[in-house]
Amino acid sequence: MEEPPTGAARAPEPKRVFIKTFGCQMNVYDSERMAEALASEGYIETEDVAEADLAILNTCHIREKAAEKVYSDLGRLRDAKRARASEGKQTVVTVAGCVAQAEGEEIIRRAPAVDLVLGPQSYHRLPELLAKVSRGDGAIVETTFPDEDKFGALPARKPAKAVTAFLTVQEGCDKFCTFCVVPYTRGMEISRPVAALVDEAERLVDRGVREITLLGQNVNGYHGEGSKGKATSLAGLIRALAKIEGLARIRYTTSHPRDMSDDLIALHRDEEKLMPFLHLPFQAGADRILAAMNRKHTAHDYLMLVERIRAARPDIALSTDIIVGFPSETDADFDRTIALVETVGFAHAFSFKYSPRPGTPASTMDGQVPEHVKRARLERLQGVIEAGYARFNGAVVGKTVQVLFEKDGRHAGQLVGRSPYLQLVHANAPPSLKGQIVDVDILNAQPNSLSGVIRGLQ
Ligand code: 5AD
Ligand code: SF4
Repeated sequence: MEEPPTGAARAPEPKRVFIKTFGCQMNVYDSERMAEALASEGYIETEDVAEADLAILNTCHIREKAAEKVYSDLGRLRDAKRARASEGKQTVVTVAGCVAQAEGEEIIRRAPAVDLVLGPQSYHRLPELLAKVSRGDGAIVETTFPDEDKFGALPARKPAKAVTAFLTVQEGCDKFCTFCVVPYTRGMEISRPVAALVDEAERLVDRGVREITLLGQNVNGYHGEGSKGKATSLAGLIRALAKIEGLARIRYTTSHPRDMSDDLIALHRDEEKLMPFLHLPFQAGADRILAAMNRKHTAHDYLMLVERIRAARPDIALSTDIIVGFPSETDADFDRTIALVETVGFAHAFSFKYSPRPGTPASTMDGQVPEHVKRARLERLQGVIEAGYARFNGAVVGKTVQVLFEKDGRHAGQLVGRSPYLQLVHANAPPSLKGQIVDVDILNAQPNSLSGVIRGLQ
């Protein structure tokens, strides 16, 4: 008789997934949710492509540079897939996100190592599509806009790893700015129901999250189903979320100036948990360019809006997005962009060279601006923006700010967190203060961060 094998049978090797995220915070949120869905299928995450059974690039299509990065990464994934194949191991290469939605089949043509192309509305189908891929039915392209609610169909959220979390409340955009691919890649605006969002936020808070950032391409256009089926505004949603005990801070991004309603502005005055920070892109300072961009607001409208917001919450920190070199932009037009930045005084700003995107109206407009002109304008603009950072951060030196500590800092004994105005703050602090909101006296300001000492710990 044969001896029975000794010891427990070896557990099967877990499957490993490598996920690389490009682009905006919504992609970060989507990647987390995909990782959670895959965890239910037995996958654990890895940062090493060489050991990945599944490699996902969650991609961004907003500017050409972001989209092209995907193809250079796909070259590297192809090599890793080959190397693993020579050891008899399979690697499923997946392209998710907005490049997947925009380019579909074209990705397989350019990068035949890709097994699955998955648009942002189809993530809940990932396990089912992976099973199909491993049956060897050939590459799959799934870029329809299905009716089912992808958020509802993804499994419930697993323990949060961090003190802060993103929560997608709205997706897509109906604004059709003439430079932008979002209405094509993320589709028309949809808002998730209030009850589902309160439920998801409660789970996050139960697991230690203290700050939630509500995400949407046009977040202040949120109009989700509330109680008795009535449409609820973003202000209504924030009021409902603010009732969650243990949730200390709420933020939201990105807002459109046209959808900045009175109730939302008033909430910045009335709701303590709503942080005094607002990301409000204006894109360009010349009205002629704003009209060509189909922004549906003028520079004056924007300034008037800022005045109303500051009347409600005088200390609010404003942030924005700006494009230089939109078709037909002259030096005089660009000067108006600089003037608007100086007049408003932003705490933070993202600035970009205009990048023509296939299928958008602006990409075929006359008067495309030469690259060297765009580059020079961007450089000048960034100088003005950075001077603004220095002013904004410098203004809090000598003041006390409430910091929510998030994680270890660069140096031993240090924690790093954020002020209400989203500034990074470093301070010597015991690890027990992670997740706590603490008064910090600010001693030093750098352009991108602050440092100080905790009140009572000096
Ligand atoms: N070129 C340059 N910047 C763009 N953005 C969107 N589309 C383009 C484009 N084609 C910028 C806008 C937007 C931000 C997310 O990206 O400023 O607010
Ligand atoms: Fe794109 Fe924002 Fe304009 Fe919508 S509002 S089309 S997301 S730039």
